[in-house]
Amino acid sequence: MAKLQILDHPLIQHKLSLIRQKDKGAKEFRELVEEIAMLMAYEVTRHLPLKEVEIETPVTTATTKMLEGKKLAVVAILRAGLGMVNGFVKLIPAARVGHIGLYRDPDTLEPVEYFSKLPQDVPEREIILIDPMLATGGSASAAISLLKNKGARLIKLVVLVAAPEGVERIQKDHPDIEIYTAALDQGLNDHAYIVPGLGDAGDRFFGTK
Ligand code: PRP
Ligand code: URA
Repeated sequence: MAKLQILDHPLIQHKLSLIRQKDKGAKEFRELVEEIAMLMAYEVTRHLPLKEVEIETPVTTATTKMLEGKKLAVVAILRAGLGMVNGFVKLIPAARVGHIGLYRDPDTLEPVEYFSKLPQDVPEREIILIDPMLATGGSASAAISLLKNKGARLIKLVVLVAAPEGVERIQKDHPDIEIYTAALDQGLNDHAYIVPGLGDAGDRFFGTK
């Protein structure tokens, strides 16, 4: 079953509480989402392999550790996933960045795909799929299916806020995926918004509402 990890670092939790507040404007919301994404990137890259290297410090030669160079791709689900990209690529600048355009139809709540641009060597890369919200799980599940159809074998899903319904959906559709979230909320309301959640992440990030 898909493993769920809640990233409970105090800085992540503090900043998440700030962006949940309805009076936070787009500028503050954007800055905080980027900061939270960077902190999450730190946590989800803990497993990256290291290699020993010989270096020269101003004092002596030494054997130290550097990244082995595992190939990574950060894939953002548009639009709201864009808000997390900078935080990730600031910490892992060598990662390729892909985009999957999906929006949730407000009536059917089903995801509608309108764009996809991914690195060519998807099968060779570990994929970090980012989207602030995991609500019904329809969008993330569709994005994971698309990535698997392109040959992706190793995918981590990283979200800011998850509903239990979305987690269950991913665990059912894609039991091989690891899910990382900053919070597991109570559930969904009648419009499939996460409660307490933070509202419409895309609209808050881009100031479109
Ligand atoms: C939001 C969010 C997720 C999706 C989550 O995107 O960013 O992609 O909803 O809902 P789900 O788990 O029920 O599929 P939205 O469809 O609002 O598009 P946007 O990012 O362009 O605003
Ligand atoms: N999409 C959002 O942006 N917020 C929610 O609460 C649910 C889906």
